[in-house]
Formats: sequence, structure tokens, C-alpha cells
Amino acid sequence: MNLEKNIGINFPEGRDTAFHLHPYTNPTNLADAGPHIISSGEGIYVTDKDNNKFIEGMSGLWCTSLGFNEPELVEAAVKQMRELPFYHSFTGKTSNPAIDLAEKLVSIAPNNLKKAFFCNSGSEANDTAIKMVWYFQASQGRPEKKKIISRKRGYHGVTLAAASLTALPYAQDGFGLPLDFVKHTSSPHYFMDGFEGESESEFVIRIIQELEDLIKREGAETIGALIAEPVMGAGGVIIPPKGYFEALQKTLDKYSILLIADEVICGFGRTGNMWGSETYGLKPDILTCAKALSSAYLPISGILVSSEVVGGIEKLASDLGIFGHGYTYSAHPVPAAVALRTLEHMEDRFILEHVSSISPLFVERVDKLKQFNCVGHTRAVGLIGAMEFVGIPHTRKKIDPKEKFSVKAQKLIQDAGVILRSLPGDAIGFCPPLIISENQINEMFDCIETVMPILDDMAYELGGKR
Ligand SMILES: Cc1ncc(COP(=O)(O)O)c(C=O)c1O
Repeated sequence: MNLEKNIGINFPEGRDTAFHLHPYTNPTNLADAGPHIISSGEGIYVTDKDNNKFIEGMSGLWCTSLGFNEPELVEAAVKQMRELPFYHSFTGKTSNPAIDLAEKLVSIAPNNLKKAFFCNSGSEANDTAIKMVWYFQASQGRPEKKKIISRKRGYHGVTLAAASLTALPYAQDGFGLPLDFVKHTSSPHYFMDGFEGESESEFVIRIIQELEDLIKREGAETIGALIAEPVMGAGGVIIPPKGYFEALQKTLDKYSILLIADEVICGFGRTGNMWGSETYGLKPDILTCAKALSSAYLPISGILVSSEVVGGIEKLASDLGIFGHGYTYSAHPVPAAVALRTLEHMEDRFILEHVSSISPLFVERVDKLKQFNCVGHTRAVGLIGAMEFVGIPHTRKKIDPKEKFSVKAQKLIQDAGVILRSLPGDAIGFCPPLIISENQINEMFDCIETVMPILDDMAYELGGKR
């Protein structure tokens, strides 16, 4: 499958290269190879301009949970467009989809979260969550509780605050980030960060102790919240070891530090329950969600807030005369209507039950990739997983990062027919639409397995060279 063509100005590829500055793209590679134009989608498949069909094994960007042509979502958007294509929620105005969606989200929220606020993206939701923490702490007479702890390898978005929380160099290099209100602590990546001979439970004790040391060093009175993805997605699909979140939660409670659960990927069934917080027993004070909220058909994100936090926010806002935060498109009626239909559809079609029933096969097929020598570690839960490459079998010895092995692997697998995503730490992520069938899981992994022997040979050469 040759995608590297048609880059002259008379072709769409050439016009894209000429006029479109792409997010998260290497401009030199784009200029050389041209963009890949996806033109249609059906279920778990997308088709490109040259009629090549792919399994979308990443649900786009971990988001298109109901697949690429769910008519009910299209109809919900069209109906709402006809009825009221825009209204805002400033100065006490609202619309029916906004009311219905807020009520619905609160009814399914974990840990008794009581009110919903809306933005347009995961990044905006996380920026808003931080402003809410600051506002809440100020309402309690603790304005100095401004620092936010996030975890290394965490991904929380790209706006100024969110990019500072994100602890991946590719989102910070060149921007002079992170801003200094963010403090980073270890991530629970036992495979890579566990010491030789250290058990998983010893690892958990050590990294939670590191967190406590950080809190003591910075001073708990200066720390407002910690933000965590239940399963860390873009950082490498890092699944927390047993007991990790329980210990983390205890430490936060001990020092009166709020927990923000970033459910932008995990929310709405990805880990097998409605929320990653349920899968791992998190008790968030604030929860952010986006992506699968509308199956990514339209941009919308939400922040769910505990009664204590919302009480503080509303009190200070009343004292000041206004809650001075919001977006033109907060609770936009069209994405809100699509999101509401998405949640209803999940119930009508028993999507959570479907994920639970097919997850064991998905986990088994991810696990089976360990048979290949270049795969040092696999991990999966619900319908999210990863394989992590190594240069020397049965070790943690990595291939020289300059080789960009996982990027090459991603390209070969895509040429074979499955779109996946290379992740930091030389890993490849799997995150198919939640509607994937058993046959399609087998089709996806059968296709990936055709490429694995080639990757084994490549890894052997590169690993042997070092
Ligand atoms: C966990 C998490 N939080 C936040 C974001 C940012 O979302 P957005 O790209 O919609 O701003 C992402 C995006 O991938 C994410 O994975």
C-alpha cells in the first residue's frame, strides 16, 4: 500500500501539505510522504481516498467508541441543528440538551459527583478542573494551595495548564513548559520502573512513599490536587498495579489533597466499567471526560464535581457576583444532544455488557503477542492494551530510541491493514471501537501477527548491534 504519492499542488495531498499546519506531526516527514487522507468509515473500519480499508484499532484518537457510522448520532445532531443550532449557558441561559446531559452524567457519575460543567475538549476540561481546584481552595480560605501533582508519563492535553500536567517531553519541548505550579511524581509502570528483584507490592510502597516525600518537601498546604488517569493512555497504556490507587487515595486523604480523575480515555466503558474510577476504586473529587462522551462525533467534554467542591465554587461565585469561567460553546446544544444520544445508545445496545463479554478474548489476544521475541511486555484491560518492544528477549533492554522501532512497527502494521499508534517507551497501543465483535478482534490480531515475525527480525538485528 503506497501512501507516499500525490504531493503536487494539484492533488488534495499537495494542498494539505501546502496549507494545513498539522497537530502532532513531523512537518519534514509530512512534506516527504504527504498526508494520509481518510475519506469514509463504517463500524470499526475506515477507508482512505485510494480505497484502502483499515481496521481502526485506536478508535481514531482513543475516542470513536461507537464506530464510524452510527446513524442515531447523526440523526441526533441533525434534529438538534434544526431545532436550535446554538445557544449558550452564560448568565443563567440553558437549553434542553444541556439540562438532559448534565442530569444524565450526574446519574451515572462515580463517587457521588453532583454537578456537571461543559467544555469542548479534554485539554479544556483539565484546565477548567485546575481553575476549579484553585477557586475551591480560595473559597475555603486556602488560596496558597495552588500546586498540582501529576505523574510522569501522564497525558492531560495541550493547553497551557494541561500541557504542564502532561509529563511527556514531546508535548513540552520547545514551549518552555511545564509551568512551575505542576510537580511530577512517579508513574506506576512496574515493568519499566520496578527495581531488579522488587515485587509489585514493594514497588507500589516505594512510589507511594516517593509521592509522600514530594508532598512533605513541597508542603501539603501548597498542594491543591493530584491528577491521574485511571489507566495512563498516551504515556504507554500503563495499567496500575494492585493496591496502587488505594494507597494513593489514602495519601491524598491524609494531606487533604483533592483527586482529579482524568477519564478522557477511560470514561464510558473503555476499561470494562462505565468509569476507570470504578475499575480501580478511585474516589475523585473532580472528574474530567471527553472523547467517547459523544463517540467523538462532535467536540464536547465534561467536568463532574463533588458537592463539597461545587458548594465552595458556588459560594465564592456568589460572593464575587459571578463564576468567571466558561466557553462560548460550553454545553453547546448540538454536541450535547449527540452526547446524550451516545449515552442512551450505550444503554439501549448494552455496550458495557458487550465490552465485558468480549474483553477476555481481547486480553488473551494482546497477551499472546508475548510469544514474539521483540515483545517484552503486554498489558490489557477492558478494550485497551499495549505491547512494549525490547531489543533482547526476556529483558527490559530497549532498542536504541533513535531507531524509532515502534514508529516503524506502526507503519508496517498499518500497511498490513490495522491502524494503531506508537507510544512512548517503544510501545504500540490497542484501543478499538467498543462495538468491535469477536470475529473482528480475531481479524485485527491475526493481521497484526502477520507482521510480528518481520518485527522480530528487525529487533534481533538492532538489539544484537548494541
Ligand atoms: C487522558 C487524556 N486527557 C486529556 C486529553 C486531551 O484531550 P483533547 O485532545 O481533547 O484536548 C487526552 C487526549 O488524548 C487524554 O488522552
